[in-house]
Parts: sequence; C-alpha cells; structure tokens
Amino acid sequence: MVNSAISGFYRLSIAERRDILKRELNLTDDEMRLIANMGSLEEGIADRMIENVVSEMEVPIGIAMNFLINGKDYLVPMAIEEPSVVAAASNAARMARVKGGFKSISSDPLMIGQIELSGIPDPFGAKFRILERKEELIQLANSRDPVLLKLGGGAKDVEVRVIDENNPMVVVHLIVDVRDAMGANAVNTMAEYLAPRISEISGGKVRLRILSNLATYRVTRSYAVFDKKTIGGEDVVEGILEAYRFARDDPYRATTHNKGIMNGIDAVLVATSNDWRAVEAGAHAYAAMKGYTSLSRWEMNSDGDLVGYLELPMAVGIVGGATVTHPKAKLMRKILGITSAREFADVLGAVGLAQNFAAIRALASEGIQKGHMELHARNVAISAGAKGEEIDRVAEIIVRDKMIRVDYASEILKKIREGTKG
Ligand code: MEV
Repeated sequence: MVNSAISGFYRLSIAERRDILKRELNLTDDEMRLIANMGSLEEGIADRMIENVVSEMEVPIGIAMNFLINGKDYLVPMAIEEPSVVAAASNAARMARVKGGFKSISSDPLMIGQIELSGIPDPFGAKFRILERKEELIQLANSRDPVLLKLGGGAKDVEVRVIDENNPMVVVHLIVDVRDAMGANAVNTMAEYLAPRISEISGGKVRLRILSNLATYRVTRSYAVFDKKTIGGEDVVEGILEAYRFARDDPYRATTHNKGIMNGIDAVLVATSNDWRAVEAGAHAYAAMKGYTSLSRWEMNSDGDLVGYLELPMAVGIVGGATVTHPKAKLMRKILGITSAREFADVLGAVGLAQNFAAIRALASEGIQKGHMELHARNVAISAGAKGEEIDRVAEIIVRDKMIRVDYASEILKKIREGTKG
C-alpha cells in the first residue's frame, strides 16, 4: 500500500518527486517518460505555479470559428476534452452571422470584497457608523493599490448588510473596480487592510475577509438573433423555445442547460489559464438567485426568428496570475485578439450563448447523440488501442454498426489487423 505521508515532498525537486512515485508505485520506464513530458510549460514555471508538481496535464485546444461579436471577428481557442463542443460552437456562430452575429455588453469590472463582523450588539447602528465613514474607508483601501488607482480602477463604494437578524452578523461589501484583472488579489488585499479600521468603527470582531465570486456588479449580457430558415424552420424554433421553458421551470433540466453554456465558457477560460472555478461558481449562484433557473432566455421576435439572451457574472482577467505566467495562455490571448478584460467578457458571453443554442437546437431536433457519438467513437477506438489510420477505420465501423463500445472496437481492431475486415 502506498504511503501518502511523505514528509518534505514539497521541498524536493520535480525529478526527486517523480522518483518517489516510481518507487512507491513501481512505475515503468514508459510511464516515467510520460510523466516527464512537460509540453510548453517548463518545469521551472510549473514548479512555481503550484505545489508538489510532478507533471502537467494536456487537453486539446481547438479553434472555434465564425464568431462575429460586436462587429468584430474572433478566432476562439477552446481547451476541452469533450468532443463536439468546438464543432457545435463554430456551427452556432456560423448561423448567428446571418443576422449580424453576437452582441455583448459587459459592465464595469466591479468586484465585491466581503468583510465579516460578529459580536455586534447594535448591527444597524454599526451599519450606520460604517456608512458614515464610507469616504475614509474608500481612501484607505485605495492607499493599498496606487497602480490600480492610476489605471482608473480602485475601491468605489462600501455597502453594509445585516444578515440573520436573530443572530446578527454584519457584512461589509467593498466594491472595487479591478480593471483588466480577475481581481481576487487586489480585492483580498484591500479587504484585509480595511478590516482593523472597520472593526474599530463597528465594535465588531472581524473574521473572514475575502472576495465574493458572486460578482453581481460585473455582469456580461449577450444577445443574438438566429434566422429561422437558417436554423431549420419554425419547428426548430418552437423546439428551442420549449427546451428553454423546460430549463426555466425545472432545476434538474436547468443544471444541464447551464452546463452546456459553461462548456463553451470554461473551455475558453482553460485555454487562457483563467480561474474557471470562479466563473462557474458565480454563474450557478447567479442562476439560483430567485430559485435555480436557466442563465439564458430564448424568445421569438415578430419576424418569427429566434432571439437568444444570456446574462451572467464574468470575473475574468487578462493580467495577473497564470494568465501571464503560462506561455501558452499568453499565446491563446493573442490568437483571441482581445485587449481588455471587458472585451474578453464580451467574447465569453457570446461563446456561452452559442454553445447553449447548439445544444438545445440539437436536443430539440435530432438529439445530441448522433454527432456526439461519431466524435466519441474516435475516443473509443483509441481506448481500444487503435493507432494512426486505424482510429478512423475503427470509428467508422463502430458507428456504422451502432456499437460504440470499447469491447466491440477491440474486436474490430483485431479483425482489421488480421486483415479480415475493412
Ligand atoms: C453536454 O456536455 C451538454 C448538454 O447536455 C447541454 C444541454 O443539455 O443543454 C448537451
């Protein structure tokens, strides 16, 4: 049995850590070569990004095509392991072009930092005392980040909430314009810095001081009109509207519907080394603010065309963290051709809407399994051991025979290799 309590693992070099894995798990020479294969992320960089590094994980990056957003064309890099996502996004974006592509509006990049106060006998009195000193607190917070201030960002507002009046807790929200950053570092630094003064003013004990991922002031709204003929006619429009109503009214369906939206958004976030967990958390919390529902809205306009609208928080950055330390993330940003976090958010909203459209259009018509399984068949062929040209040959046969399973793929592969089937 493996011993997971190896002291000082973090102090070792990457090579030494791999040697421990080899010893503990009897890794073969081939497995050791695989683990040592680092791609574009040099060991020196990887080892500083996270702790206890032994390797890196690759996912394919595909470029989603046809995206016209706010009148500008984009090549959208998507890093994802799931087949169909890139093809679906490209296809949806192609159809959206007929009526002018996507439009997105992103709000100012305002993030919320939370400071929790407890043990206050007069929570509303404390709220008032804090609000009275709003300007002082804003100035104090801004003294921590002159660079952000110079760029036009910085702390802008203070809000105070009293939650649970029976067991009162006062929560201060510091609203910070983080410009082109995701903002966690800037906001957390300011929140920590303000905490003692806020404790003094309120008479409360400060505990948590941390950014909220429910970025309700940093929201992206995207919109597109889909021409009814291009997308398959009235029945498809009706099917999509019904799929939307299903998601709107049923949280079980809404979760999957929203997962489809996040398939697109997350893939772009991974390609650019953004904190996709933050965007995911914010998206689902936003969807749940009045009872969990669809993040998108679908309707029909007076021409009978389909109108899609998506709204969600979009805390993303083009400066700071891994977005700049990861060399490939930098390159992906160059391919995407964005110059601000706000433009990036605009693109992400459009990609989410495109992905949602593609999924519910397929679901409302032929179902997703056909396209999905054809692509999936290649993975099944690879899992069965197919190599090079064998992959397509095996995939083709298992799709044709409607038996997309590894055991069947192995059987076919064996026959191909024996020269008895082709
Ligand atoms: C699969 O990754 C995503 C879908 O399930 C989304 C949806 O159901 O709307 C196809």
